[in-house]
Amino acid sequence: MTRQLSRTHTCGELSDKNIDESVTLCGWVHTRRDHGGLIFIDLWDKEGLTQVVLNPQIDSLAHQHAQSLRGNYVMAVHGKVRSRPEGMVNSKLKTGAIEVYIDDLEILNRSKTPPFSGWEDQDVSEVLRLKNRYLDLRSDLLQTNLKVRYQITRVVRQVLDKHGFIEVETPMLTKSTPEGARDYLVPSRLNPQKFFALPQSPQLFKQILMVAGMDRYFQIVKCFRDEDLRNDRQPEFTQIDMEMSFVTEEQLFRLAEEMMQTVYQEVLGISIETPFPILTYKEAIDRFGSDKPDLRFGLELVDLGDIIQGTSFKVFADVLKKGGQIRAINIKNSTEILSRKALDDLTELAKTYGAKGMAWIKMQKGELQSPIIKFFEKDMLDGMIAALKGEDGDTIVFIADKPKVVADALAHIRLAAAKLLGLIDEKKINLAWVTEFPLLDYNEDEKRFTAMHHPFTAPNEGHLEQFADAPEKISSRAYDLVLNGNEIAGGSIRIHQKEVQEKMFKLLGIGQEEAELKFGFLLDALQFGAPPHGGIAFGLDRLAMLLTGADSIRDVIAFPKTQKATCLMTQAPSEIDLKQLKELKLKYDLS
Ligand code: AMO
Ligand code: AMP
Repeated sequence: MTRQLSRTHTCGELSDKNIDESVTLCGWVHTRRDHGGLIFIDLWDKEGLTQVVLNPQIDSLAHQHAQSLRGNYVMAVHGKVRSRPEGMVNSKLKTGAIEVYIDDLEILNRSKTPPFSGWEDQDVSEVLRLKNRYLDLRSDLLQTNLKVRYQITRVVRQVLDKHGFIEVETPMLTKSTPEGARDYLVPSRLNPQKFFALPQSPQLFKQILMVAGMDRYFQIVKCFRDEDLRNDRQPEFTQIDMEMSFVTEEQLFRLAEEMMQTVYQEVLGISIETPFPILTYKEAIDRFGSDKPDLRFGLELVDLGDIIQGTSFKVFADVLKKGGQIRAINIKNSTEILSRKALDDLTELAKTYGAKGMAWIKMQKGELQSPIIKFFEKDMLDGMIAALKGEDGDTIVFIADKPKVVADALAHIRLAAAKLLGLIDEKKINLAWVTEFPLLDYNEDEKRFTAMHHPFTAPNEGHLEQFADAPEKISSRAYDLVLNGNEIAGGSIRIHQKEVQEKMFKLLGIGQEEAELKFGFLLDALQFGAPPHGGIAFGLDRLAMLLTGADSIRDVIAFPKTQKATCLMTQAPSEIDLKQLKELKLKYDLS
């Protein structure tokens, strides 16, 4: 039998309460200092660091052995806990009051010199970090982030369990569920030329579980979406997915609020107030230009259409004539900070969201500076400034365009200005519901309506009939939960009647045949006693990112993908053998 010392304590555990105990620690060589006679090693495991000392007078063999130790070697040590000599206590370290004098040492594995040390805060490229993720994951940051992520799921399970939910697994090899992204497809060997889709969400299965009388379902579940990636998006991500029968929006909101409140309390020790405020979609767009507004600061949008009516300024007059909008933000006390260059940068930012320009007025030292005041009569100018409560020191910025462009551009200007002026209190936690989303979104390119949330969301009572000729006016029973300007959850009360679901498909331009082919199983299930139901899904990765304060969603995922949806460690996706392709009966263009 191979000899192996058996661990008695972790490297973060020993204190002056353990003096004189004989202990065995296992871990990695974090640092090694050779002081002639004595060798000091900081031994690391996920719980912390312990200083171990090799003294040739205590055990000359172990001391000799220690000469060959290098960083990252894996070892087990046995020895006695001693208090550190006076003046050597390290109060920054949990184990800083003690050290362990070694009388036995075993090298469990050697290590090559790593390309970087995960333990040190080195300036290492993300490519190298992702390629050697096992080293990166040793860092305090990632260790802490993954712990927080785990704690969130633990607390969520406790809360949902208390409320009678059960976790049910739904298939990963399934049929496409439209959530607005492309599917990841998996060919079926036993059914040549046929494909499974990896789920974009378990939406239809959880609804069918309600028909099955499960009543309260949840699942912490992987979802897959082949979409363009950003800092808050991954192709493979995790939802905390829930569904409830016989539920009203209010009941669902209270439960989700309790979940968030408990998560904050248990994971971060922070108490947050409930219930969360509610904004309708219209109010969010009118006041902040966004359906996920950051409510930690003001800078609200003001519509100037009425005041500016009849202006001779051609840019604005033309926009009004075409049914567009002119809206503005008063960036208070900003004339010093918003230099000409800063205003040019904001203009460029506005242009990336489709705006043709950004007009501005600076109110400085009792004067108005602006490229546009010459186009306005005094009354109109006074009216605009009054509407925006403009005062000396303020800068007013204007965008004139189609409503969507105005909202998008001003929403981003609002955020950028708040950052420039330091208006965002990072300690604030602002959670709000956004409700009454439009049911449909008009896609200009495809010249048809798409579902704003997904096609299974219930329209508001009576709206289908009332707005039969103006589908864009139908509002829905969808809601999002927004945390400091990030959408962390989305859901809705669902359609539970077949006829309504069929009307919805019709509005989306999905014919009867296509509906039958793609969603026949849902339409069937809806005919066998589907209860009214609704649900919500939280983005676990986004939640973990916001709770840890991580800069990127990649920092809360053990093995994330790059912006190009690849895994640098395993080199996935990769080419496959011709043999595999043949088995799948897939044609492949090898040219
Ligand atoms: P939705 O598409 O809004 O709703 O997704 C729910 C939440 O999941 C998170 N999320 C993502 N996180 C990381 N990377 C992504 N690519 C990504 N996409 C979405 C967001 C989002 O709020 N079936 C519905 C839920 C329902 O109606 O109950 C759904 O999937 O935080
Ligand atoms: P112009 O007469 O085109 O030089 O524009 C005068 C000012 O109006 C400049 O500051 C432009 O940035 C601004 N401007 C141009 N188009 C728009 C627009 N659509 N919305 C807001 N400001 C605009």
